[in-house]
Amino acid sequence: MKNFYIETLGCQMNKSDSERISGILSHFGYFETENEKEAQLLIINTCSIRQLSEDKAYSKLGVWGKRKKSNPEIKIAICGCVAQQDKEKIRKRAPYVDLIFGTHNIYELPDLIKHIENGEKICAVTNTPVIRNNNDFKIIRKPSVNAWIPIIEGCNNFCTYCVVPFTRGRERSRKPEEIIKEAQNIINEGFKEITLLGQNVDSYGKDFNDKNITLANLLRELNKIEGDFRIRFVTSYPSDITDDLINAVDECDKVCKYFHIPMQSGNSRILKEMNRHYTKQQYYEIVSKIRSRFPDVAITSDFIAGFPGETEEEFLDTLNAIEELELDYSNTAAYSPREFTKAGKMTDKFLPEDVKYERLERLNEKNKQACLKSNEKFTGKILKVLVENKTEKDGNIILNSRADNNKIVHFTDKTKKIGDFAFVKITKAQTWCLFGEPVE
Ligand code: SAH
Ligand code: SF4
Ligand code: F3S
Repeated sequence: MKNFYIETLGCQMNKSDSERISGILSHFGYFETENEKEAQLLIINTCSIRQLSEDKAYSKLGVWGKRKKSNPEIKIAICGCVAQQDKEKIRKRAPYVDLIFGTHNIYELPDLIKHIENGEKICAVTNTPVIRNNNDFKIIRKPSVNAWIPIIEGCNNFCTYCVVPFTRGRERSRKPEEIIKEAQNIINEGFKEITLLGQNVDSYGKDFNDKNITLANLLRELNKIEGDFRIRFVTSYPSDITDDLINAVDECDKVCKYFHIPMQSGNSRILKEMNRHYTKQQYYEIVSKIRSRFPDVAITSDFIAGFPGETEEEFLDTLNAIEELELDYSNTAAYSPREFTKAGKMTDKFLPEDVKYERLERLNEKNKQACLKSNEKFTGKILKVLVENKTEKDGNIILNSRADNNKIVHFTDKTKKIGDFAFVKITKAQTWCLFGEPVE
């Protein structure tokens, strides 16, 4: 029996890839262990969205490299976005690594594993337009009520700050039949939630020569699968949210009324510099259209503080946007220059670190206020939730659940267990979560 340990950094796409890697390895006699010290094969699935994420990967490799010195039998592998982006740098900084494989090369693992078992060092990083052939191998999903299905991979947008188009390649959609089959299997296995994944999930199908293959139609098809479950989709690119998508979300009872639509900046000049294909005004219109259609919807976003050349006034537009749009939650980050990207070359416009971090602090403060305000809107309302987990507090079992609109809701109900749906009346709002009581 051979054990492997996989550490996953980065986004849900990486988490989903790790589940696929685990599944492939299981076909070759490898079992996953949670304890890295007992693993013969150590894998790190990396992210390079910001410098900090990339640094984490190298620091883990350093720890593993030391371990390999005293135990040369251990094999070390690196995959994910750092691997796809810069194999030479990895070879230089961590020459003891046995296997480097890119985001496009996961399905070559069966062959790659044989090489490292023979004591060879191997590197497989290519950029192929081939669509992932996901259904040939087992997928070992993490125990959860939710299962991820990647439906489109890659990105054609080239936002000037972002490394993803370089690490994930161009957009490639999976065939609807393949996705529907995977979804059916997931529901048969007892999962209660499906999350459709894509760097730009609402670009789904654009690379096929068929107008009918869209995210909206895919949702309609998935909604027909029998069973008590719900469907989510992330991440939406603002200007790719069509009226038909909004209609589909409305029509489909299993689809959650929740949108994650990163705005990145509240200022149109900065959006243009970022090569985002919408203005502040257009983003406002999309939010208003969605809010008027779905009363209990939550809209979440991402923002970057301190993009090269961003003035104080332009930054204030971002703070105002969070407030005016009543955004329900936002992921925030200070701008981090990335290799290969256009903004990464705007060195003369880079802002000092202290300015970026001071803006990030204000952004976080504004986000916190907006979250509390958003949560307070829900007190007194009844939300449908799915129990994800349970915790014990002062001898009481608290159920940790998530509403359709992605809000975290805690409540007590002895008749419910993990994986059950419930209706909960919200009694109290805090910044990051809601509390409630079950209702019939
Ligand atoms: N496809 C999604 C975002 C994927 S990357 C979209 O277009 O909205 C996730 C988030 O990381 C981005 O939304 C952005 O806010 C942040 N990000 C990406 N590159 C960054 C960089 N160079 N510095 C700081 N944050 C960055
Ligand atoms: Fe990155 Fe922009 Fe593509 Fe999102 S749309 S993955 S931010 S390049
Ligand atoms: Fe990171 Fe790659 Fe995802 S850079 S955010 S792991 S697509």
